[in-house]
Order: sequence, then structure tokens, then C-alpha cells
Amino acid sequence: METVSLEANFDAKLTRNEMIEPKDWMPDNYRKHLIRQISQHAHSEIVGMLPEGNWITRAPSLRAKIVLLAKVQDEGGHGLYLYTAAETLQISREELLDQLHTGKAKYSSIFNYPTLTWADIGAVGWLVDGAAIMNQVMLQRTSYGPYARAMVRICKEESFHQRQGYEIMCRLAFGSQEQKEMAQDALNRWWWPSLMMFGPPDANSPNSANAIKWKIKRESNDQLRQRFVNQTVPQAEFLGLSVPDKELKWNDAKGGYDFGTPDWNEFENVIHGNGPCNKERLAARVEAHDKGRWVREAAAVFAAKKKGMDKAA
Ligand code: 3HC
Repeated sequence: METVSLEANFDAKLTRNEMIEPKDWMPDNYRKHLIRQISQHAHSEIVGMLPEGNWITRAPSLRAKIVLLAKVQDEGGHGLYLYTAAETLQISREELLDQLHTGKAKYSSIFNYPTLTWADIGAVGWLVDGAAIMNQVMLQRTSYGPYARAMVRICKEESFHQRQGYEIMCRLAFGSQEQKEMAQDALNRWWWPSLMMFGPPDANSPNSANAIKWKIKRESNDQLRQRFVNQTVPQAEFLGLSVPDKELKWNDAKGGYDFGTPDWNEFENVIHGNGPCNKERLAARVEAHDKGRWVREAAAVFAAKKKGMDKAA
């Protein structure tokens, strides 16, 4: 088929809301866009294990420890589904990881902030996983089949993560005065970075136009940010905590909250490697990758041997 009709076929599929599958023809820019987004998403999942992982040994009860362990393991699983989805676009896992380890690929800004207290683990689950779900629900209907299917299970698990975080916040907010202050302090530090997770304002988002045209993103950064604020403010009120935004105000006319502007200079710094923990996070990932080399080598030798045995049988 000629490229023109291949492209027309691709466009028609999108119009009919059919998924694009790995063996289908796709424009090269669509493929590159997906590799960029899915791999950044995968990197976010595995880097996201770090700030929470450092609280596993300090969880305040056995129950809290088991739940946090499960959550951190889930994030590792999300990374695997997403790397596998990206690999269907003709790029190897090694190349994707190399892009992360050499600082060429981005991962979510949010994981460059430190988790200073146990309340931060509550705030991360409540706000960070809450923001992630807000964005990811629409990705279950993204136009690329393997990505959409990976997102179904991820969304179910992220919902559990959000509940885990909110439960911690409830325990603290309805606990002693000191615990409530810890919860408020965590909200103060995580609120604005959570709003930044949705990406720059629509007017300054270079990738959004193509993402919407190709039905990779179904809603814009600003629409999702607004929905997150609308949903989360009443949850903060229930906890008796105040959202650290003087401009926050219900707006009847729009049926949502007006809110202040995140510090976009801070965002730019963080996504360009200069946030509070960027260097630490990257170094930890590189170290983990190096330490895992023998496991990858042993698995490859085992797989090759098994293939030989299967052939001989
Ligand atoms: N952190 C880091 N980089 C970000 C960012 C953020 N929060 N928001 C935007 N950027 C980057 C973009 O990647 C892009 O850089 P690039 O062109 O070099 O790739 C640049 O800033 C401009 O942003 P755009 O709005 O044009 O980019 P997108 O259209 O890709 O939108 C996005 C950004 C909303 C994050 C989108 O990529 C997306 O929906 N990604 C999938 C979801 C995802 O990655 N979530 C990670 C959240 S964490 C998570 O899920 C783990 C869970 O366990 C909590």
C-alpha cells in the first residue's frame, strides 16, 4: 500500500476509535511520541519506588509495612508492563534504560522531592497516586493498544495506592495534635509539586496538540489539573487540613475551584535535573541496575540453555 493510503487508513482507525496495534502501520512521529511518553511513564514508576522504598524499614506497624511493601512492588510491576509496551514500538529495554541512566529521558518531576516523615508516605499515596490516577484513567482509552491495556491493571492498583495514602492521612489528621501537624506539613510540601505532575499549562505544552490529535491524550494538562483540585480539596477539608493556596476559592460559575499558579520556574528546574533529589535518584537507579547485572546475565544463560534443551527434546 502507498504511504498516503496507509496514512488514511491510520487516520480512519483513529476516527473510528479503534486501537492501533504494534503490527499496524503508523506514522514515525506517532511511534516516537509514544516511545517518549510510555518510556517516561515507565521510568516514573521505577524511580517512584525510591522515595517510598526508603520508608519500608521505618513503617510504624507491621500492617503498614506490608501494605507499603505491596505498593512499592506494584510500582515495579507497572514499570515492567510499560517497558514491555514500549518495546512493541521497536526499541529495546537496554536503550530505554540507557536513556534514563544517562539523563536523556525524563521521569515524573514529583519523585525529585524528599520523603521526610511518615506523613509524606500518606501524602504521596493520597496526592501523587491521586494525581497519577486522574491522568491515567483516560490513558485506558489511549489509541495505542498495548499502552491502553497496560493501563487497565495499573489504574486498579493505583486506586489501592491512593486509598493507602488517604488512610495514613486520616490516621494522622484525626490523631494527636503533633500527628495532625505532621499531616499538615506534608500537605504543605506536596500540594504544589502534585499540581505540577500534570505538566505545563496547555498554552506551553509542546506535545499536547499531537497527543490530542492522535488520541494518545484524551484530555489536556489543565483540564486534568482542574479536576484533581476539584476532587482533592473536599478530601482535605474532611481531614481538617488546609490547602496551602491563598487563591483557592470555589467558583460557582465554572462549577470548580479557582486556584493559584504553580511555580513553573521550579518545575522547569526539576525536570532539567536540578530538583532537590534528582542526582540522588539517578545515582540510586544506576547503582541498582549495576548490582542487578548478574541476575540479568544468569537469566539470559538459563533462557539460552532452556531453548537448547527444548530444541533437543
Ligand atoms: N515531570 C517531568 N516531565 C514533565 C512533566 C512532569 N510532571 N510534565 C511534563 N513534562 C515534560 C514532558 O515530558 C515534555 O518533555 P519532552 O518533550 O522532553 O518529553 C515537556 O515537559 C513538555 O510537556 P508536555 O505537556 O508537552 O508533555 P506531554 O504532552 O507528554 O504531557 C504528561 C506530560 C502529562 C506527564 C504526559 O506525558 C503523560 O500523560 N504521561 C503519562 C503519565 C505519566 O507519565 N505519569 C507519571 C506520573 S507518576 C506515576 O504514574 C507513578 C505512580 O506510581 C504514582
